[in-house]
Amino acid sequence: MIYIKNRTEIEKMRAAGRLAANLLLYIEPFIKPGINTLEINDLCHEYTLKHGAKSAPLNYKGYPKAICTSINQVVCHGIPKKEDVVREGDIINVDVTPILDGYHGDTSKTFIVGEIPPDVRQLVEDTEKAMWIGIEQVKPGNRVNDISNAIDDFLTPKGYGIVRDLMGHGIGRNFHEDPQIPHFRQNRTLAKLEPGMIFTIEPMVNMGTYEVSFSRKDKWTVTTRDNKLSAQFEHTVLVTQTGYEVLTLP
Ligand code: MF3
Ligand code: CO
Ligand code: CO
Repeated sequence: MIYIKNRTEIEKMRAAGRLAANLLLYIEPFIKPGINTLEINDLCHEYTLKHGAKSAPLNYKGYPKAICTSINQVVCHGIPKKEDVVREGDIINVDVTPILDGYHGDTSKTFIVGEIPPDVRQLVEDTEKAMWIGIEQVKPGNRVNDISNAIDDFLTPKGYGIVRDLMGHGIGRNFHEDPQIPHFRQNRTLAKLEPGMIFTIEPMVNMGTYEVSFSRKDKWTVTTRDNKLSAQFEHTVLVTQTGYEVLTLP
C-alpha cells in the first residue's frame, strides 16, 4: 500500500531530507586518503545526534552501524569498520538516513578519492546523471515504469550493468515502504504517480555484470559478482501537483 503524505508530513519529510543533505555536505571534506569507514560512520552519527535526529540504519533489521560505506566493487550496504581505509583512487558511496521527528530522509553520493581512471570517473558521472534522468520523469500521471525505463535507456547503451536486486523505495515514517522503484527496464505497467507520494531513486550501476553477491559472512555487504566497480547516487523525491521536489537538498 502506497501512503500519500499530507502537508504536515511533507513538511517533516522536508526537514529530514534537508538534514540528510547537510550531513553529506558535512562529511565530504573528511573523505580523504587515510580515513577509515568507521571514522566516517562516527562523524556522521555524532552530527545526526547533535541535530536532534537518529540514524535509521543503526539496528535496522540487525544492521550494526549508523550509515553505509561502500567502496569500489561494493554495491551497497558496506558496513563501516576501522580496517577499511580509504585510498587514493577509490570510489566510495556514503549512504545516510537520519530520522527527524519520526520521518526519514535518505540520500547517498559516490565520492571520488584523488586521481581515478577516466572510465571510473565516467561511471560515477553517468550514475549521477541516470539518477537525475529518473527524477525528471517524476510528475502526476507518469508511472513508476517511466522512471525505470528512462534510466535504463540512458545506461544500457553505454554497456553498464544496472543492479536489479535492489531498488528505490517509498519512504516516510518507514525506512522502506511501497512502491519499489526499479532502475532497469520494465515491460509492464507499475503504479501511477500521484501528488503526495514520496520515494527514493537510487540507481546502482556496475562497470560489468548487473549481477551481485550478498555476503554470507556479515549478512549485509553487497558486491558485484565480477568484482568490477559500482557507483550509486540517491535522492528522496516528492511528487508535487506539477512535477517533483527533491527533498534531500540542503
Ligand atoms: N539507505 C539504504 C537505502 O537506500 C538502506 C540501508 S539499510 C541498512 O535504502 F540497514 F543497510 F542500513
Ligand atoms: Co534508499
Ligand atoms: Co540510502
